Amino acid sequence: MASPAILCILFISLSLFTASLASTSDSSPTVYELLEKYDFPVGLLPKGVTGYELNSTTGKFTVYLNKTCSFTIDGYNLKYKTEISGTISTDKIKDLKGIQVKVLFFWINIVEVTKDGDELELSVGIASADFTVDNFYESPECGCGFDCNNGIGGKAGKFRFNSKPFVSDS
Ligand SMILES: *[C@@H]1O[C@H](CO)[C@@H](O)[C@H](O)[C@H]1NC(C)=O
Ligand SMILES: *[C@@H]1O[C@H](CO)[C@@H](O)[C@H](O)[C@H]1NC(C)=O
Repeated sequence: MASPAILCILFISLSLFTASLASTSDSSPTVYELLEKYDFPVGLLPKGVTGYELNSTTGKFTVYLNKTCSFTIDGYNLKYKTEISGTISTDKIKDLKGIQVKVLFFWINIVEVTKDGDELELSVGIASADFTVDNFYESPECGCGFDCNNGIGGKAGKFRFNSKPFVSDS
């Protein structure tokens, strides 16, 4: 059950989080610039970001996509809502909402992303996986995910289950 497929999914999910092109106005930094400011790598958000809000005091943010996004990888489904929110600080995104991975019969939220040196850890509560930062130089696109970008190699993570049981979130 813990498999490279899951790694792959988690990797993509994270990839959808840092993105490329989105500025709310001429004077605001883009989402991409913002993520860099918090020490996250390029390539965490999909194309189609239309804007974001950030409270720079608390780190609470909301990112808006122009449409929901889902695709299948190795038999697993990923789903991105049009609104993704969380709390960001240097090297850490917590209380993440809006990105889900389907494991068996359950849609599970990716709840936390942590960067430690060259490693990114994604947590879905029941499990987490580590990836090297250089897996995140490119952003997948809705519809084709990984494959649009010539299959970025993101299977370098270790995968381990936490002790909690599966939790369904929708
Ligand atoms: C969403 O954004 C993408 C990338 O900018 C664009 O290609 C697509 O047409 C947009 N879709 C809608 C429904 O606006
Ligand atoms: C940020 O959050 C703090 C605490 O909730 C609040 O007092 C402040 O007004 C917020 N700032 C903005 C720009 O929304």
